[in-house]
Amino acid sequence: MKVPITVTVNEVQRSSEVEPRLLLVHYLRDVLELTGTHIGCETGLCGACTVHLDGEAVKSCLMLAVQANGRSIATVEGLAVEGELDAVQRGFWEEHGLQCGFCTPGMLMSAHDLLRRSPDPTEEEIRRALGGNLCRCTGYQMIVAAVQNAARNLRTEKHATRRSRSGRQAKAPARGRK
Ligand code: FES
Ligand code: FES
Repeated sequence: MKVPITVTVNEVQRSSEVEPRLLLVHYLRDVLELTGTHIGCETGLCGACTVHLDGEAVKSCLMLAVQANGRSIATVEGLAVEGELDAVQRGFWEEHGLQCGFCTPGMLMSAHDLLRRSPDPTEEEIRRALGGNLCRCTGYQMIVAAVQNAARNLRTEKHATRRSRSGRQAKAPARGRK
């Protein structure tokens, strides 16, 4: 027997009928064809399947698709906007934070989760936050440098947004003045 679910994935509402035992990672990959989320271990150990559920990082191999009903999911496909890498993706690109790239979608989603909570993390914080994401290629040093770089990129973007907003406010005519 299939069960109807509706989820918002990367800001688009999707409705499907799914088997109650279907894992969220299989729903994303096989039903919605969002194959950027990878499957490594299917036992919660490798972090390749990390996505955001209502803004927090979760391992999508440890959840059923029906548990996501009515909730918001973000996957790696939702990071870039109109083909432009986001600040965290650029952080990885610039610091060569990947080799084969298998772990990268999960690393990016975990890095986003960390940088939302801690915009200027220490190396120890980064290593702890990525402790549930395994990489067999890089030795982690370049990934740590990539997250530090991503943090700088995000802070620069926020600073630039604040400056352009305050510039617009300064130019706006005072209300009520004729
Ligand atoms: Fe989910 Fe490895 S596939 S943690
Ligand atoms: Fe290959 Fe991390 S870059 S597993």
